[in-house]
Amino acid sequence: MSQSDITSVLVEHRRFPPSAAFSKQAHIKSMAQYKKMYAESIKKPEVFFGRVAKELHWFKPWKKVLEWKEPFAKWFVGAKTNLSYNCLDRHANSARRNKIALIWEGEPVDEAHISHTRNISYDSLLRQTCQFANVLKSLGVKKGDRVMIYMPMIPEAAFAMLACARIGAVHSVIFGGFSAEAVKDRIQDCGASAVITADGGYRRGSVIELKKNVDAAVAQCPTIKNVIVVKRTGQPVHMESGRDHWWHELQQNASYECKAEPMDSEDPLFILYTSGSTGKPKGILHTTGGYMVGSYLTTKYVFDLKEDDTYWCTADIGWVTGHTYTLYGALLNGATSLIYEGAPNHPGPDRLWQIIDKFGVTIFYTAPTAIRAFIKWGEQHVLKHSLKSLRLLGTVGEPINPEAWMWYHTVIGKKRCPIVDTWWQTETGAAMLTPLPGVTPTKPGTATLPFFGVDIAVVNKEGKEVPPNVGGLLVIRKPWPSMLRGIYGDPERYKKQYWSEIKGFYFTGDGARRDKDGYFWVMGRIDDVVNVAGHRLGTMEVESALVGHIKVAEAAVVARPDDLRGQALVAFVTLKTGQTPGDALKDELRAHVGKEIGSLAKPDAADIRFTDSLPKTRSGKIMRRLLREIASGGEVKGDTTTLEDFSILAKLRTDED
Ligand code: PRX
Repeated sequence: MSQSDITSVLVEHRRFPPSAAFSKQAHIKSMAQYKKMYAESIKKPEVFFGRVAKELHWFKPWKKVLEWKEPFAKWFVGAKTNLSYNCLDRHANSARRNKIALIWEGEPVDEAHISHTRNISYDSLLRQTCQFANVLKSLGVKKGDRVMIYMPMIPEAAFAMLACARIGAVHSVIFGGFSAEAVKDRIQDCGASAVITADGGYRRGSVIELKKNVDAAVAQCPTIKNVIVVKRTGQPVHMESGRDHWWHELQQNASYECKAEPMDSEDPLFILYTSGSTGKPKGILHTTGGYMVGSYLTTKYVFDLKEDDTYWCTADIGWVTGHTYTLYGALLNGATSLIYEGAPNHPGPDRLWQIIDKFGVTIFYTAPTAIRAFIKWGEQHVLKHSLKSLRLLGTVGEPINPEAWMWYHTVIGKKRCPIVDTWWQTETGAAMLTPLPGVTPTKPGTATLPFFGVDIAVVNKEGKEVPPNVGGLLVIRKPWPSMLRGIYGDPERYKKQYWSEIKGFYFTGDGARRDKDGYFWVMGRIDDVVNVAGHRLGTMEVESALVGHIKVAEAAVVARPDDLRGQALVAFVTLKTGQTPGDALKDELRAHVGKEIGSLAKPDAADIRFTDSLPKTRSGKIMRRLLREIASGGEVKGDTTTLEDFSILAKLRTDED
């Protein structure tokens, strides 16, 4: 996409400074304090982050805070630590021992509207983590082994992640909405030796058959030696003798004590698969020390976390937000973090507001797509509840449209709670652009200013900063502690993907502009990555799924704007000779994409368009820009002289009429 395509039309004049009362009690209280800390974090990152890291526990100190050989960073070089020790033992051995670490609320409710709730203290979380760590050890899982976690949002998912971190196994969590095929691809890519799953998971009253998907995936994954299954729903599942084990049976013989493995600061911590602009999802690799410091510090300051907060990040642990903010960042700060198992509209559209009142949630962090759904369901569902306990709101995952921001501010926050709109990525590990709630006057639609240590800019293709309000490429110019260390098993792809677009800088893949106050307005991806309901999808992945269908000759997938989901996928499909387009085939194709990737990647039936051929350049490249314009319902603008067959364009539009 060319520079001139990055134009921003959004003009927003409303400003919302934090109240004096909020600023007074906040960790960071003034713009002057932020600026001073920010300046030090950029000019002397070693001093700044060395000091922060000392707030955590290290078995052995570092020799050097940072070693930077572009594009490979090492943080806290030579140090030894353990993330699970810092999340658990540090608190369990203190006055926080019996503080609630995790509040869990199950989805199902009985006839009397009573739900299943579990409150887990720091001490108990430590014990249950240790017990499961011993289970993993008893199955032969060792430091460095890869372990897949494909689970519903139940406390055992947290025990599993923390147990891996405790013994130095590298976890890779797969969101429960992904298909067997997607699970297989990920296992094969990282060569995992074990899978932790459940018989099923509850979602909007029905059961997702996780174990069945694992069975189908593992049949094609010879590296998998063990499958550990939590009994959650109780539906019958196949248990392969010698390979599959019930969690509750294994844990009976496991002790509640397990020493945390001293991990090198740069030892791998987890791999999380995410979509890129080409081919299969890539395994983003995060390591121990830097990720720990980044998630600790951002959670503390972005959410202004205090001892008595009840903090709720609604993200599933299958996404990076669930890793950093539902689990690790919260526990590193000794906070009380809430986990809800199910859908926001089960049994009714006010479930989340009911949960907020039930537990006295003070900090609530969710995604714009969820906020747009709440708006659609109607504010009467919100108004049934007081929401008096809330003091801070957050959003993440995609640009938030100002009207959704205003609704969040007024209807949920009652004009009382600051909103932190946080911009970041799977790759960045932690929030990069964000207001500080006691400091930054917010404007609806912008993630405002950089966090500490984040040297971020909007530049042109030559790497030169563009003037205020001119669109450009969002880049990061210095290494930061929680940055990805690579793409698992593919250093070349890492270099090419992130470090070759603009010399010397990390390229985020996003377009942005900076306003006169220096605030960043992120406009979205400029590559072939699409953000559907806050889930990142590569259009190429969906295309290759479609082309894998026996009746499909060729497919091109692009995004169109969508009121609810931010963006939606539109698939242009050409069929093999003799195949008849129609609704039945659309259903077949949707089911096929669901099977290959997962339901989240299915285009709506109305967004599958059959066509005789696709517009191509003379060199045979599909002209996606044109398809995007058609998909968005707009006129086809711009240069079309390289089109091989002009008539196709007209045809594609008539199909739509
Ligand atoms: O395009 C940006 C968008 O989401 C992308 C990262 O997606 P993912 O790796 O799945 O991580 C999502 C959760 C951290 C970014 O490149 N994005 C994320 N947050 C925002 C955003 N766009 C605008 N504003 C945000 N606050």
